[in-house]
Amino acid sequence: MDTRELLSSSDRHLMTFTRRFPLALVRGEGMRVWDSDGKEYLDFTGGIAVNALGHSHPRVVGTIREQATTLLHVSNYFHIPQQVHLAKLLCDHSFADRVFFSNSGAEANEAAIKLARKWAKEHGASDRGDIITMRGGFHGRTLATVTATAQEKYHHGFEPLPGGFKYVPYNDVRAVERAIDSKTAALLVEPVQGEGGVIVPDDGYLPGLRKLCDQAGILLMLDEIQTGVGRTGTLWAYEHSGVTPDVMTVAKALANGIPIGATLATDEVASAFSPGTHGSTFGGNPFATAVGLTVLTTLLEEKLPERAAKMGRVLRERLAGVQSRHKGLVKDIRSKGLLVGVDVVPPVGDVLAACRDRGLLALTAGDNTLRFAPALVLQEADIDRACDILDKALAGAPA
Ligand SMILES: Cc1ncc(COP(=O)(O)O)c(C=O)c1O
Repeated sequence: MDTRELLSSSDRHLMTFTRRFPLALVRGEGMRVWDSDGKEYLDFTGGIAVNALGHSHPRVVGTIREQATTLLHVSNYFHIPQQVHLAKLLCDHSFADRVFFSNSGAEANEAAIKLARKWAKEHGASDRGDIITMRGGFHGRTLATVTATAQEKYHHGFEPLPGGFKYVPYNDVRAVERAIDSKTAALLVEPVQGEGGVIVPDDGYLPGLRKLCDQAGILLMLDEIQTGVGRTGTLWAYEHSGVTPDVMTVAKALANGIPIGATLATDEVASAFSPGTHGSTFGGNPFATAVGLTVLTTLLEEKLPERAAKMGRVLRERLAGVQSRHKGLVKDIRSKGLLVGVDVVPPVGDVLAACRDRGLLALTAGDNTLRFAPALVLQEADIDRACDILDKALAGAPA
């Protein structure tokens, strides 16, 4: 099947749940991917903040090969050594005492929502179960997590939506204070809003939320599905704030592309789950957790969060150069480590296509934001090349 046939077969046989770019990617290595016609691209999408170690990382490939020939899957009726080791490593390097594994970000958030409600009922009135979430946030596409996602465009047509969610503006501690009442169980919040447009809150925001949660006896739950695993320049984004959550959700980069989700909690909160209260067939299986273990070990050994901080500064500086050369076309740059948003004036889809034609893949976010979430292993030369392409794309130079 040539590329044209493949794209038309895709159109015919797949449900149209997203608008796809008109190319098929078939191979990747480090920061680079190739399409079905052999064209090379610099990948600044990182599979939407998934490929932290880049494509075909030798240690990841080695673990995948080894685990595939040893044991892919057994049920959670049995103890699974790789799951135990990954849980211990996550706990050793975070606030958490215990972990529940699933297969995606949405599932990690579902588990967090269920855990918070169960915990709240055991620590208060039986009608306590509301979760406060932030406008512009994103928490997934299942019915509960899409309802937690306080953006009506994601809800449209899926009513009736589950109850028990309350929305307040992001980066507004007072609004949360006003919204908390006797039915509130928890807050669910991203330390930096990713899909919402790379919105970085004020330094006092998370500490302010922590204080409110402590005063009200409710849980602070952080969705670190996009910001976690080194992306913002620390292993977890909450480390920038000086406070810790009660619950944290992780997915995306944790196994560098093998589906995995994780819900982390303190002992006290985790104890709300008991045998039979929650579960997952695939969650935490030997394959996914073996890969997660390799990814997290590599990330820590190679100090990739620190690298993300350093490279994030370089990228930010180079983008400031792009902005100064295209004053009317770049409105704003926001970033934390290697999660970067560039507000552009022309339609972002046009800028994205112009970059793609010139060999750079990027993402969009928010209303008109170009988003970069490259692998944490990128080199300065990759940043120079990406900014050079963006320069030319904005200038409308020939591709
Ligand atoms: C912050 C955040 N939470 C949750 C999700 C949902 O994750 P998944 O698509 O793996 O279900 C995403 C996905 O983009 C996300 O960015």
